[in-house]
Amino acid sequence: MNIERYKSIFLTHLEGKSIEKEPVNLYAPINYILNLGGKRLRPILALLSTDAFGDDPKKALDVALAIEVFHNFTLIHDDIMDDAPLRRGKETVHEKWDINTGILSGDAMLILAYQILESYEPKIYKELMRVFNQTALEVCEGQQMDMDFETRTDVTLSEYMKMITLKTSVLVAAALQMGGIIAGASEDDKQRIYDFGLNLGLAFQLQDDYLDAFGNPETFGKQVGGDIIENKKTYLVLKALENATSEQSENLLNLYTEENQDQETKIEAVKNLFEETGAVKMIQDEIENYTQKAFEYLEQMQIDTEKKQILIDFGNFLMKRNV
Ligand code: IPE
Ligand code: IPE
Ligand code: MG
Ligand code: MG
Ligand code: MG
Repeated sequence: MNIERYKSIFLTHLEGKSIEKEPVNLYAPINYILNLGGKRLRPILALLSTDAFGDDPKKALDVALAIEVFHNFTLIHDDIMDDAPLRRGKETVHEKWDINTGILSGDAMLILAYQILESYEPKIYKELMRVFNQTALEVCEGQQMDMDFETRTDVTLSEYMKMITLKTSVLVAAALQMGGIIAGASEDDKQRIYDFGLNLGLAFQLQDDYLDAFGNPETFGKQVGGDIIENKKTYLVLKALENATSEQSENLLNLYTEENQDQETKIEAVKNLFEETGAVKMIQDEIENYTQKAFEYLEQMQIDTEKKQILIDFGNFLMKRNV
């Protein structure tokens, strides 16, 4: 099975689950965000993992769906928190409706995600829940750290890595591990596939940070420069500060603390500093490093070479993405 095939069986499953209930203002935003598209990375990984461990990937469809619903819930709330106007090339939920609608539809999606997992038998259900609950709480921790960092200028690289591990990597890792749980993978393999996902997730979030500044506005689907506007302490900022001359460093810190600036001017000035200090080259190397590190965990796993190759191809594909 190739990636497109996993995606298509997932989309068929998703289609059957659209909720046409009242109140419309609760459910319409849910259908809207879930049908906006997106890469469907996490569902694909869940199905692929079950398949790789030798079981029928269709058994993982509800895990894939629960994780995608949860992910889309975090996006609605994240877009409120980040004041983001665009998601997947369309208006964000809180722009199309309003903030209160985004909060409540998001809450309902979190509950729906749990409800979807009720389809598993008790033993598997319990194990899935343990991973899911731990992960969901960690995502909240990562999101709060991300917000706290906006107003700090002394964020360290290790704090940043911890923050992106929590807000992004753990969910990628959990999707893979939950796929492994469905297939009855060994404890060792469940840990390895999780570690593969953690590292892939780090590469993925670094790439997201890179694209947020340097993506093509025509195709990226989110507001380019959004992280700069919000003073996000991304890898680019931290590496730029680490390698800046005292003049560059002062400039960057001013740009990241001054209110009432023209946004376009700020974005251009910050991007120039990212380039001049070598931060752009460094983030690109780091994306490559974490992807390679992820692949090392695959080597020790008891799965067939063909399936390993699909996971490697997918990792390489993610590294080259521009959306
Ligand atoms: C966006 O996730 C949030 C991050 C963790 C970077 P994706 O890039 O997977 O978003 P979609 O689902 O493909 O739109
Ligand atoms: C998203 O981080 C992490 C979660 C949604 C949990 P970002 O804020 O970077 O995601 P995007 O760039 O808005 O998709
Ligand atoms: Mg965001
Ligand atoms: Mg965010
Ligand atoms: Mg981002």
